[in-house]
This record gives sequence, C-alpha cells and structure tokens, in this order.
Amino acid sequence: MIQRIRGTADILPGAIPRWRKIEETAREFFQRYGFREIRTPIFERTELFARTVGEETDIVAKEMYTFKDRSGESLSLRPESTASVVRAYIENKLWVDAPLTRLFYAGPQFRYERPQKGRLRQFHQIGAEVLGQSDDPMIEAEVIEMLSSFLDALGITTRVLLVNSIGCPDCRPRYLAGLRAALEPSIGAMCEDCRRRFEINTLRVLDCKVESDQAVIASLPAMVDYLCGACAEHFEAFRRHLDTAAIPYRLEKRLVRGLDYYRRTAFEIVSDDLGAQNTLVGGGRYDGLAELLGGPPTKGFGFALGVERMLLMLPEGAAEEASDGPEVYLAYIGPAARERAIALSRRLRRAGWSAALDFEERKLKKSLAMADKLKARRVLIIGDEEISAGAYILRDMKSGDQQTIEDADLVRRLEEISIHSGRRWS
Ligand code: HAM
Repeated sequence: MIQRIRGTADILPGAIPRWRKIEETAREFFQRYGFREIRTPIFERTELFARTVGEETDIVAKEMYTFKDRSGESLSLRPESTASVVRAYIENKLWVDAPLTRLFYAGPQFRYERPQKGRLRQFHQIGAEVLGQSDDPMIEAEVIEMLSSFLDALGITTRVLLVNSIGCPDCRPRYLAGLRAALEPSIGAMCEDCRRRFEINTLRVLDCKVESDQAVIASLPAMVDYLCGACAEHFEAFRRHLDTAAIPYRLEKRLVRGLDYYRRTAFEIVSDDLGAQNTLVGGGRYDGLAELLGGPPTKGFGFALGVERMLLMLPEGAAEEASDGPEVYLAYIGPAARERAIALSRRLRRAGWSAALDFEERKLKKSLAMADKLKARRVLIIGDEEISAGAYILRDMKSGDQQTIEDADLVRRLEEISIHSGRRWS
C-alpha cells in the first residue's frame, strides 16, 4: 500500500471543526485590525528564499524541498511565506493603495525537518504582515495586541511573549565584532556548522543546537547591549506600547530567530504546553527585505503561527463537533419509489436541505439502521402506497415520532417542523 509521506498528515473530517475554528477566528480578529487576505503560490524560485531567509540558515541550507522543473529552473516549495508576500507586494505594486498595507495568509509550508510532536514536513501557518513606509513601533505593539486577543479568544492562555531587538545594519557590525572576539578562543572546539557560520554568518552560531556548544553560546554577549541610539529608542518605545496595552512580556536577550531578514524587534510566543517544539508564534521587523528583492525601500513587520501547534493547545470542546449527518435521509421501497426518492432528493437539495439516499435498495428496517449510522436527523419514507397517496411519512430519528406530509407541501412543512425542533442535531 502506498502511504503518506513521513511528516505529513491527513486532516480527517472529524478534525476539521477545530481547524475551521482557528482559521475563522483568525480571519475575524485580523479583519478587525484591517488585514486583508493574500494567497501566494506554494512554490517560488529558490533564489527568493536564499536571498531573504538566508543561505546559511537551517531553513535554506538543510530544510527546503528544492527541485528543478522541466525547464531546468531551481524551484522550492515555500518554507515560509514572508518572502512570498513581500515579492507579491512589490510585483503587484500594492504600495500604491495605501501608506500601510496589512496582509494575512493561511496555508501549508514545507520544511524537511525531523518529524516529532508539533513538527511536520508539511505544516500550516497563519501569518500577518504590515508593509509600507512607516516603522512606528506602535505597529508592532498593535499586531501583538491583535495576536493576544486572538489567542485569548481561543482559550490559549498558557503562553509567554518573548521580545528582543537584534539591531540594524548600523549597530550589528559592532555586535558581530564583539561576538567574534568572544567566540575566538572556543570556536576551534565547536561543531562544524558553528565553525563555518563563524566565518560566513556569525550571528547564526547562536542557532546551534549541539549540546556540547551550549555552554559557550550561553556566555556570548547579547545584541541588546550593543544597540545604536535609534534602535535602543525604537525598542524602548515598543516596550512602552506593550506596557500601555497591558501585554506582559519577557526580554529574551538570546532570541535571534532562525531567519536572516530580521532587524530590530524580534519576538516569539512560547508555551510549556507544547513540549520540545515550544514556539507557537515567531515574528519580527524586516525593514529592507523588499530592497533585497529589487523593490522600493519598504518597512515590514509581521509574524506567523503554527496551526498544528495551536491545535495541541486548543482546549477540548473549543469547537463543537458539527453534525455532518444529513438533515433528511430518503428510505424507499421498490423501483418506482427509488425514482421518486431521487427526484425528491434533488428537490430538497435545491431548497437548501442536505439530503442523503442510497442507490442500493434495502428493506425499510435496514434503511432506518443506515440513516441512524449516518446520524440523519429525519427519514422520509417512500413506498408505492405513499406515491399513490401523494404523501410520505416523515420520521424524526431523535423522538421516533412519525407524521404524514403531502408531496406538494414537503419543503414548507419541513421548514415549519425545523423551526420547532431544530434544523440539525443540536
Ligand atoms: P518561523 O519561526 O520559522 O517564522 O515559523 C513560525 C511558526 O511556524 C513557528 O513558531 C511554528 O509554530 C511554526 N512552524 C515552523 N516550522 C514548523 C514545523 N516544521 N512544523 C510545525 N510547525 C512549524 C516564519 O516562518 C516567519 N515567516 C514569521 C514571520 C512573518 N516573520 C515576519 N513575518
């Protein structure tokens, strides 16, 4: 048997209500803050991610699904969506619409990581990006406020907001020099990745997960202690806005995020409820990313959250298991009744009712058992007698009550009955 690919999941009908709850709540809250949905392609030129996320990041160096298409061009399944959204923003000149463009997205992302709880190779993100000319730290605080109210609404409360500033091209070189000086004595004994990164992209040494390197990494200087005046002021204003909005946070000096495009504010929302993969949301500021792609100078700030991780935290009962049973099941006896049942199912569906019937003929008792199995709300019983009388028997599957309904009155009577007893299982 051919099985699904490791690190992917089938999202079965029973799980869908919880997925929809998250997606619909996100849409509702994000729209309140002026975000509009965007959908970008699932694959892009590999170069898009290499240039923005960074050649030396784990994502680009080790985790992308990269392939050549039939014309020999290198393409990659998107490992994240910020680069695609910024590309679309430039390519479609979205900046002409308004000084700030607020966009959100939801969809699958692909990373070749070692699968474990909360970590998949095809996973889903919901994200939001604010692009435009302003880098006001109020944008950051407002986006985080939106996220907080969205997470509260879903009952995801055991979480901690971690914030940091990773500086800008003015102050980062001084920090990198400090980082290199601090690493110099120990780098020879560190892992191969660290040694390579030390030369090419020193900041990425901080991403190292190798146990024996952790003591050195913990002793390294922190970017916040090297911020230039403008970055320090920006970070202070951001934190003041969080305080004003009564959003608690923790300064996490080691937070650098695993993508190269960040500048200044970086943040994560983590939770002990998640186990080893404890990051629910990641985001930050990425001024200048648009220029890397040949666009006009643009400021950017945004985040993405992992839907599978959110599902692990979503309280039981947060989404009612919607009854997917039919409103009316048609049970027929005999070939003429079969034809009538098919015509009636068509009539009911056109009128907006969900109707089910089997094309294989059964005894009435078996049909009722089938209706029960399908969780049908009501059964309409049709036999030769009913056809000649021009009326059918409607059975309520919950109460067992039966009544006769005239053919001409069928839809109207169903509507009447449903007002009293509920259209669906409730
Ligand atoms: P990221 O930190 O790489 O950031 O991913 C964001 C979130 O996606 C993570 O916190 C996690 O919940 C989820 N996630 C990542 N990898 C996996 C995986 N293999 N399996 C399950 N969930 C996963 C970004 O992607 C940035 N584009 C966020 C951003 C938007 N920054 C600015 N704007």
